[in-house]
Amino acid sequence: MIDIHCHLLPNVDDGPTSWEESLEMARLASQDGIRIAVTTPHWIQRTKWEPSPDEIKKKVEELNNKLKENEIPLTILPGMEVGISENLPKLVSSGEVLTLGESHYLLIEIPFVSLPLGIEEIIFNLKVMGIYPILAHPERNQELQKNPKRILDLVKAGAFVQVTAGSFCGYFGEQAKRCVIQFAKFGVLHAVASDAHSAKERMPILTTGLKVLEEFIGREQVELLLANTYRFIGMESVT
Ligand SMILES: [Fe+2]
Repeated sequence: MIDIHCHLLPNVDDGPTSWEESLEMARLASQDGIRIAVTTPHWIQRTKWEPSPDEIKKKVEELNNKLKENEIPLTILPGMEVGISENLPKLVSSGEVLTLGESHYLLIEIPFVSLPLGIEEIIFNLKVMGIYPILAHPERNQELQKNPKRILDLVKAGAFVQVTAGSFCGYFGEQAKRCVIQFAKFGVLHAVASDAHSAKERMPILTTGLKVLEEFIGREQVELLLANTYRFIGMESVT
């Protein structure tokens, strides 16, 4: 499996706070069957979380070396979870933010309360420059929880949908669980990721959530979803 959204690098955001914890998270991910993880530190304009692409790439290289030394069969790719703003196209073209594994897909975080005005236009403007936006855990957004059908407009505008495995298990509340199941029934799930932040609470584990999803869409559809997730790092699929 591939995890396209997790926070595995130490001391860059609210993820792990030491290399030991990063390695522990990598061990958990690998035990769960994850072979590739795109680490996606938060990048939010004008906040303390504006890591440079070079800093992230350097830390990814360091982590990959540590994984080899410790014989943990997991490959890390660089990425970011970028807070939505009108100037996303400029941030991408100037190289200030990283796409997923340097593919054409950009992971975008939306607010937890309402959807920004003009979100469709932002999606469209990215598409025009050949960048495909992936919405990070939209099932946790209150506006979408109240009106899950609104996701269909965003998908129609060109967005992809990444949901968090823990949402299926109710870790983010009943509303998020109901919403994510609704998305599954609409057939608009494009990736299930861990959004892991630590080795103890929000862990890099996909299988528990996928088991719940399976009850709604069946094993075959889950397998298809997992195989298709590879497109987000520019790979066809890996079996
Ligand atoms: Fe995240």
